[in-house]
Amino acid sequence: MAMRQIQVADNTLVIHELEDVCDSATGRALTGSWVWASSLVLSNWMANQGPTHFNFQDKTVLELGAGAGLPGLTAAQLGASRVILTDVSPLLPGLLKNVEANGLGERVEVRELVWGSDESPSQIGEFDLVLMSDVFYNAEEIVCLAKTLKRVCDRETTVLAATEVRPSTAECLSELIKEGFELNELPSQLGFAHSEGMESLDRFAVFHVIPPPEDSQMEATCTYK
Ligand SMILES: C[S@@+](CC[C@H](N)C(=O)[O-])C[C@H]1O[C@@H](n2cnc3c(N)ncnc32)[C@H](O)[C@@H]1O
Repeated sequence: MAMRQIQVADNTLVIHELEDVCDSATGRALTGSWVWASSLVLSNWMANQGPTHFNFQDKTVLELGAGAGLPGLTAAQLGASRVILTDVSPLLPGLLKNVEANGLGERVEVRELVWGSDESPSQIGEFDLVLMSDVFYNAEEIVCLAKTLKRVCDRETTVLAATEVRPSTAECLSELIKEGFELNELPSQLGFAHSEGMESLDRFAVFHVIPPPEDSQMEATCTYK
């Protein structure tokens, strides 16, 4: 397990990246085992520009597909009162380790949440803010993600998503739009130095994702496995 110290505005977060967590079906390393550049983009956007759009103080926050959990932990450092970091179960021990490493255990919880699953989202409740970084890469999963988003958002929920712009991104975004979501790209003066592995910030975007009005929401049929 590698340990990184990641600077986000005035704060330093300790993040452990997992090295040997594999999907039992494919044998491939789980993508959430390490920090993706989009999570640096989203965390820095929240710390630098976020407060002019959203007051983190005392808010409840849910992170979907959290991986190592950097954006959710950043929200806790910015004043959120309750943060839930979610992902598939093999990644939860790593997320817990990162919560503990940053001394945020009183305000940050870790839970399994598989997009589109029936049981977990409704038990979790609704949130002031939902965060997602680098989850727009497989268009087949977007219906499931949309189903979960509709369950955890109400009229007041702000949803922020950072993504690397890849060939598959447009297809993912148009799937979300088909599900009734509106997407507004936020101003992208990301306000932090380029770091290793990020050749150009032009390849990244931060979106305000607006869920469809509750009375027009149809339950998506989620078949992705
Ligand atoms: C590319 S990684 C990004 C991880 C992290 N958000 C980041 O930016 O560093 C995609 C994440 O989405 C999660 N994910 C993908 N499909 C999922 C699903 N159906 N349900 C829950 N999480 C899922 C993966 O486990 C992984 O953590």
